[in-house]
Amino acid sequence: MPTDDRIASLLQLKQPIVQGPFGGGISTVNLTASVSNLGGLGSFGAHILTPSEIAETSKAISASTTAAFALNLWVEDHDPEALTLSDDAYEASAAQFRPYYDELGLELPKRPTRFHESFEDQVEAILEVRPPALSFVFGIPSTKVLTACKQRGIATIGAATNVAEAQALDHAGVDAIVATGFEAGGHRPSFLKRAESSLMSTSSLVQTAAARIDTPLIAAGGIVDAIGVAASRVLGASAAQLGTAFLACDESGTSDANRKILFDRDAVAETTLTRTYTGRLARGVRNRLIEELERPDRQIAPFPVQAWFVAPLKKASTEANRTDLTSLYAGQSAPNLKHRNVATLMDALSSSLGTNSAAV
Ligand SMILES: Cc1cc2nc3c(=O)[nH]c(=O)nc-3n(C[C@H](O)[C@H](O)[C@H](O)COP(=O)(O)O)c2cc1C
Repeated sequence: MPTDDRIASLLQLKQPIVQGPFGGGISTVNLTASVSNLGGLGSFGAHILTPSEIAETSKAISASTTAAFALNLWVEDHDPEALTLSDDAYEASAAQFRPYYDELGLELPKRPTRFHESFEDQVEAILEVRPPALSFVFGIPSTKVLTACKQRGIATIGAATNVAEAQALDHAGVDAIVATGFEAGGHRPSFLKRAESSLMSTSSLVQTAAARIDTPLIAAGGIVDAIGVAASRVLGASAAQLGTAFLACDESGTSDANRKILFDRDAVAETTLTRTYTGRLARGVRNRLIEELERPDRQIAPFPVQAWFVAPLKKASTEANRTDLTSLYAGQSAPNLKHRNVATLMDALSSSLGTNSAAV
């Protein structure tokens, strides 16, 4: 069976493996550089960083690896409803969060002028520091930005949750497309339709997109071992992107309590799609925060307003070693997680067909 090695050639990878970027402060320079140094594509989720933090991060990764890596941004930085949010709606959200802030001894945050960094400013920083690759979710950057990346030798990697999005990215001329199935941990980065209407599995999305577009595909969602990587390549992907499996590694910035849950097979046996964490649909483990904020009498604020209120809870929960009032991202194959550091995970992924971790 012929395999598609275009992503490995494009980025000079020794393994067709992409470490999925983690936004929200969970990416680390060490994780990104470790994966790149072992022949995969390390990625750093930079969407909450200021332009100067992006420049510093890129330089820090470049100082730790000479291999390719990607910085990752979110193209649509605010839902339209967040841009027109009334003060009353802000206060109504604050009132819903007040009991949790009180319980953790926190002050509710005041309304900021902007809830999230601007994508335009962030991308300027990227063009300035020229990382080997820019990966992005929740939309397609302008032709001007994509052309500027091309001129500077920055490879562009978009993300699709349905075939129409893959075709739009293909038409825009990106270098690679992450085909993200609903199994994936983290957000459903849909941009043409509501995420709830774009719930395709990784295998269906890879097969149907591969039949219609020429841009090489990176399969993402539910892949945690060599069998998953090989299967995605048989279906038509050129590489596989793993998130949850790298999140579980010591090199990631997730909290100890969160990591413990990832290795608790009963706790991760069932994951759920929820807008509770940020206002956008994401997959994680059900906890008290989800149970209570999804009650019919509650309103979930648009992105990034909901994220604005959840972020301080997450920070305080990490410090208090609590998992009930925080986001607990995980993909559907988490019960098969096995490896606790990047070296052993990358080694296991390199075995030709590997051993299915479920059997171990
Ligand atoms: C905690 C967490 C944060 C994530 N943040 C981002 C992000 O900021 N940008 C992005 O493109 N993907 C993000 N993802 C998605 C991953 O990069 C990857 O595509 C996904 O986890 C693959 O599915 P898997 O978890 O089943 O392996 C995130 C995933 C997790 C688990």
